Amino acid sequence: MKRPLRLGVLGSGKGSNFRAIVEKIVDGQLDAEVRIVISDVDNSGILKVARDFKIPGLYVCPGRFRTRLEPEIEENIVRLLQEAQVELVILAGFMRIVKQPLLSAFPRRIINIHPSLLPKFPGLEAWKQALAAGERVTGCTVHYVEAAVDAGEILGAKTVPILLGDTPESLHARIQQSEHVLVPAVIAEIAERFHRRA
Ligand code: GRF
Repeated sequence: MKRPLRLGVLGSGKGSNFRAIVEKIVDGQLDAEVRIVISDVDNSGILKVARDFKIPGLYVCPGRFRTRLEPEIEENIVRLLQEAQVELVILAGFMRIVKQPLLSAFPRRIINIHPSLLPKFPGLEAWKQALAAGERVTGCTVHYVEAAVDAGEILGAKTVPILLGDTPESLHARIQQSEHVLVPAVIAEIAERFHRRA
């Protein structure tokens, strides 16, 4: 019997991608269920979105590093995701590098959204990088998460035009509109594959 794909979402920011995922689920267009949302930022927008939709949301103190989590904290996150029986982990604006033990606990079960057409412009504020490079087109990419940052098999991408007079803000907003379409579509494809295997 078909059952919804169980998702766990990690995010640090406003949670617009998370909202887009949940709205598709609520509309019946995505056969998935968000079991848990975890944020490394207390009172982040993504935790507020979780509250709006009555989805369990948790703040996890990130520890003393700026760009990654301490291994014990990552272990705690693995435990929380496993207890919630998560099958696919979505990094939806999670501003830390994911390492072990998370990677080995969810092999090819973690996906990330990046605001450029990878492999172009990995790293932070990719829309600013595209603008500074004088590109005419950029976009967003969803990929599996591997040890190398913003690498990993690409699951889908969408192009976005760069318009004359674009500011970093206007360009990022246009990229995000595409992310909100791409991310649920990629999750739907993964859910389809899970169902075929079940
Ligand atoms: C997105 O632009 C995504 O590409 C990047 O972080 C941002 C998250 O935005 N990784 P939101 O919190 O989903 O609104």
